[in-house]
Amino acid sequence: MSFPSYVTLVEVGARDGLQNEKEIIPTKVKIEFINQLSETGLSVIEATSFVSPKAIPQLADHAEVFMGISKKENVRYPVLIPNTLGLEQALALGIKEIAVFTSPSEQFNQHNIHCSVAESIERIKAVITLAKNHQLRIRGYLSCTLGCPYEGNIEPEKVTDLADKLFKEGCHEISLGDTIGVGTPETVKKLLESVLKKIPVENIAVHFHDTYGCALKNIYVALEYGISIIDSSVAGLGGCPYAPGATGNVATERVLYMLNDLGIKTGIDVDKLVHVGKFINQQLHGK
Ligand code: HMG
Ligand code: MG
Repeated sequence: MSFPSYVTLVEVGARDGLQNEKEIIPTKVKIEFINQLSETGLSVIEATSFVSPKAIPQLADHAEVFMGISKKENVRYPVLIPNTLGLEQALALGIKEIAVFTSPSEQFNQHNIHCSVAESIERIKAVITLAKNHQLRIRGYLSCTLGCPYEGNIEPEKVTDLADKLFKEGCHEISLGDTIGVGTPETVKKLLESVLKKIPVENIAVHFHDTYGCALKNIYVALEYGISIIDSSVAGLGGCPYAPGATGNVATERVLYMLNDLGIKTGIDVDKLVHVGKFINQQLHGK
């Protein structure tokens, strides 16, 4: 076990963060937010999602946002895709990278995407087939991997089995989501011990929410296992509208502070990032 020397932070604030805001954020604010994030040194910024506007009205302006942002050559802008309908819309805009999503929890899937785990895999297979035809990079998210608001405990083996399926289907990277932030260093260890038996460490990302203040400790454990891709959200924005109890994602600023202290490189300017955090807080909460 040794720390990675470089970590890629995947900034999810513009998608996972803004999808959970009560008010609809003006499109121009989203565009300005992503443009500012692009100047911080972040190399991956999840821009929006092409889900049903009935499910997530907050991101119904996905096309305008994706087309409106100034894309930097060295920054990737993945978008969340629920089905082939969403992917067709995204492809028409020249999207190069997508994220698909499901969960080992049957009940969470029913609430979030209105289908079973098995049905979600079929949907994802269809998305992956189309995405591969267009040489897209594909990330696979698994939600509620450390606990579910409807089913409670989730067995690590169940997560591993699903992660393995998505990886074999062609996802380049699997992000293990602690959607409601109930994970602890001990449960994270158990999950990683199980998943890393099947999937190479360089293909695993971790995605923590900070409900009980364990997110940084959990990330520390993941780093000890060599995980080098970490999802986070500037200003700790976020939550999932279909996961009662889900508070914000771990704040990018905090993760960066810890990584800098550990001497792990990220390429990100912490001062610029703090500035963007202040900007979005001002826009959302007037402070
Ligand atoms: P559905 O309503 O169950 O069924 O949608 P459907 O496929 O029959 O579609 C119904 C209607 O939606 C139809 O329109 C479709 O055309 C339309 P109508 O005939 O009623 O006028 N529709 C769409 N419209 C636009 N774009 C589309 C699309 N697809 C269908 N892509 C569906 C199923 C999955 C689409 C829907 O339930 C949905 O969009 N769910 C997404 C919910 C979501 O985004 N949740 C949050 C993201 S997951 C998350 O946050 C966790 C994560 O961050 C990790 C973590 O934090 O741990 C990833
Ligand atoms: Mg999240």
